[in-house]
Amino acid sequence: MSERLQQFIAQHVPTIESHMYELVKEIRGPEMLKESMLYSLEAGGKRIRPLFVVAVCDMFNGLQPASYTVGATIEMIHTYSLIHDDLPCMDDDDMRRGKPTNHIVYGEALAVLAGDALNSLCFGVLARMPNVSAEQRLELVHMLSEGAGAEGMVGGQVLDMEGEKRQLNLAELENIHINKTGALLRFSIEAGAVLCNASQEEREALVDYAHHIGLAFQIQDDILDIEGTSEQLGKTAGKDVESDKSTYPALLTIDGAKQKLEEHYKLALAALDCLTVDSTLLREFANYIISRSN
Ligand code: IPE
Ligand code: IPE
Ligand code: MG
Ligand code: MG
Ligand code: MG
Repeated sequence: MSERLQQFIAQHVPTIESHMYELVKEIRGPEMLKESMLYSLEAGGKRIRPLFVVAVCDMFNGLQPASYTVGATIEMIHTYSLIHDDLPCMDDDDMRRGKPTNHIVYGEALAVLAGDALNSLCFGVLARMPNVSAEQRLELVHMLSEGAGAEGMVGGQVLDMEGEKRQLNLAELENIHINKTGALLRFSIEAGAVLCNASQEEREALVDYAHHIGLAFQIQDDILDIEGTSEQLGKTAGKDVESDKSTYPALLTIDGAKQKLEEHYKLALAALDCLTVDSTLLREFANYIISRSN
């Protein structure tokens, strides 16, 4: 990872995290539920999605407290998706972010409800953000609803489950990855554009970048499931093969998956070419995503 990116991450992650924890601590609800929500949020993770919100705003010179709030919401939605993804009825995983999964510690019922509560919380937070226009707040709520729901992440998760133990073609697999993983990454990147009032042309370039970043991110996740160790990943390696999951390596072999990864990396960079602002940081993010080891 480049030094600049390393510095950017070290500079912004603490603020993103404190926003997130504060939002949960403020809730007037059962302490046990709040504890379960905080358990998964505080377990860590790379915080890629909120970092994208902040990076896009930084690129347009629009760094503002709202970037952290929007970042906190997308990280909470992502964390809810992981809590549910790990449930016995889904991927049945007992380790996440280097710790026992939420349902192992709090039981399945509370894990489901902690995910539900994180999901609901985010829409209220976006709706009442200070110093952001009503039009922008409305647009963000609408975008998150699409990206997180049946037309995005949840829809992708359904197709992912349905695709197990069945031979998919590349177009079907690409569609799963675009939805289950790409949709939340797209929200993160596009939300930055909304907060900074980016032009239509700039926004389209960022959405194109996000499309390839989303695919590259999940292809690397599929590769790491095979090549990584559980210690390095903080989650059980080798689960995809065990559950006969449709993945890029399963369909294209490891080498074929790496080739696709490289293709999407190059296309992500090319999407940024038409921007007049300095996009170095987003280019460095793209490189990190394809070379990450966890
Ligand atoms: C894991 O996401 C699930 C996928 C969408 C591939 P991350 O790799 O971003 O997980 P954390 O947030 O760092 O734990
Ligand atoms: C998860 O994909 C995508 C979402 C949680 C929406 P995976 O099932 O591949 O993620 P990991 O490998 O468990 O992190
Ligand atoms: Mg899964
Ligand atoms: Mg999983
Ligand atoms: Mg995976």
